[in-house]
Amino acid sequence: MTNSTQLRQCADPIGVFDSGVGGLSVLRALRAELPLEPFVYIADSGHAPYGERDDSHIIARSHAITRYLLEHHHIKALVVACNTATAAAIQRLRQDFPELPIVGIEPALKPAASNSKTKHIGVLATRGTLNSEKFRALLASLQDQAHFVVQPCDGLADAIERDDAIKTEALCAYFTRAMGQFGLNPGEMDTLVLGCTHYPFAIDVLHASVGEAVVFLEGGAPVARQTRRLLEARSWLATQGAPVARAASTVFGTTGNAGQLQSAIARWLQMTSDVQTLSIT
Ligand code: DGL
Repeated sequence: MTNSTQLRQCADPIGVFDSGVGGLSVLRALRAELPLEPFVYIADSGHAPYGERDDSHIIARSHAITRYLLEHHHIKALVVACNTATAAAIQRLRQDFPELPIVGIEPALKPAASNSKTKHIGVLATRGTLNSEKFRALLASLQDQAHFVVQPCDGLADAIERDDAIKTEALCAYFTRAMGQFGLNPGEMDTLVLGCTHYPFAIDVLHASVGEAVVFLEGGAPVARQTRRLLEARSWLATQGAPVARAASTVFGTTGNAGQLQSAIARWLQMTSDVQTLSIT
């Protein structure tokens, strides 16, 4: 690799995408772990939700977004900030973009199995994630370590996406009630895995449903650490290149409603930002 290529890659942004606003929960962790890195975030809200769609739709969307991020932003790494897209498409993305470091997200079953005291664990995720081979294999590998109650949450990511508080509350109460007893006593679920990146934005409502004592696990922080490791190994971190005068920036784009993403950014990242409306095909 030439020196100029190396420098160019250090200053290039990291691409992050999700079906909508959910990936902001991962971006929050990425910005905390890698404060000097520039990011480009794409919300594919115009083609969401992913969780109740078939794999071919999700693979096609993941491809189109990755191509867009490479062509228009010259990204140095990609974070698939969506459990459903990771399950359906990450293998194909890695095959088709072999030069690009790609980090995915999966429901935090492993940390849940090690940390749970009652060894009874609830898992909330989209139907797509739960039906995927990747998830089934993960679950099977941990069956002897804990008892998992898995709950598909049709409509919940969409309600969070639309900021529909009444529907979000009703769905959270309905799904958690259907799973059984939460708590710290033997036989009760003391841990709840948030297996969709939208769900951390319903944390207060979920706590109200299952109790404050239940531990929630999401995957943003491990994804951020893995992203750092991959870049560090290639010497592609922004801090490993020539000093960059400007502050690290985050560029936002959506294939859906720009106002919706803008409000979510203000609410969940406490920042104001322009949002580009994009047509990615
Ligand atoms: N945020 C996505 C995930 O982590 C899915 C939301 C959707 O159904 O589009 O699974």
